[in-house]
Amino acid sequence: MFKALRYFLTISLFGLVWAQQPRPLVLWHGLGDSANAPGILRFVEEIKSVHPGIFVHSIYLEEDIDKDRQAGFYGNVNEQVQFVSEQLAAIPELEGGFDAIGFSQGGQFLRAYVERYNSPPVNNLITFGSQHMGVSDIPTCGPRDFMCQIARRAVKAGVYSSWAQEHLVTAQYFRDPANLEGYYSSNKFLTSINNEILESRNETYARNLASLNKLVLIMFTEDKTVVPKESSWFGSEVVVDDISLTDDHQRVLADTRIPVSMYEQPLYQEDWIGLRELDERGDVVFGVCESVHMDIEDCWEAFVREYAGGDL
Ligand SMILES: *[C@@H]1O[C@H](CO)[C@@H](O)[C@H](O)[C@H]1NC(C)=O
Repeated sequence: MFKALRYFLTISLFGLVWAQQPRPLVLWHGLGDSANAPGILRFVEEIKSVHPGIFVHSIYLEEDIDKDRQAGFYGNVNEQVQFVSEQLAAIPELEGGFDAIGFSQGGQFLRAYVERYNSPPVNNLITFGSQHMGVSDIPTCGPRDFMCQIARRAVKAGVYSSWAQEHLVTAQYFRDPANLEGYYSSNKFLTSINNEILESRNETYARNLASLNKLVLIMFTEDKTVVPKESSWFGSEVVVDDISLTDDHQRVLADTRIPVSMYEQPLYQEDWIGLRELDERGDVVFGVCESVHMDIEDCWEAFVREYAGGDL
């Protein structure tokens, strides 16, 4: 009798734990980090303390930690996203779908995964400080970060050369408002996932993005790295040529930049990628961290609590 009761309790407890298995989570780190960098490992542990029992996978492009970091600077993003799609499809724990968090550039790369592959499917996509409408300037580097400095110099020198567009990661989401023609004609990553080129627009991308449960876009209010920071909310800038007068009455051509919000983008208005559909359904969440780029210390937890680790 007692034995039977104990057996019954064990089974029900098991059933309870089983039923509350949280949805797995996939993390794509940002530029300068690697899948197993100490900061990323710490973040994974913190997620696990918020959602006990959660399975977390940190995306890597190379097994070796230094090579993985390097792959954040150098490589072909389309190939990297393809590689990641194969990596995710091979992980049995992810089979039933997962939530995903992208840090900085990892956010637009995960969006590319959703639009192009999404198998297994993403439930909530949470992006922290990502460059969804690209950057109009290259992020600055730390004073001793030579790998970053070399990459930055190379990008600025010839951002729309075919070499840069195949090999330098940041070039592949550099969207220069003063040279949109150069961007449209040479860029093969951001123009693609944003469906900006009419002839190669792909409806699958829009269908897949609109299939998300929530798209959570988090902007850092003090971000000086991502220019403009509103790119995290699908904002960008346009350049208007403006004649202005200097103090000594010389006429100069000023390069004035005017912000363009998500709602003003043709991408949104004509719904090239399913963003408007998601938004009108109430499933685009605009969040902020009141800090500099990727300083998530005081803001990550609320987002992870609300949008990750739900019941599978
Ligand atoms: C559109 O994207 C899907 C998913 O990546 C792909 O399978 C398909 O071939 C693409 N269609 C065209 C016309 O390129």
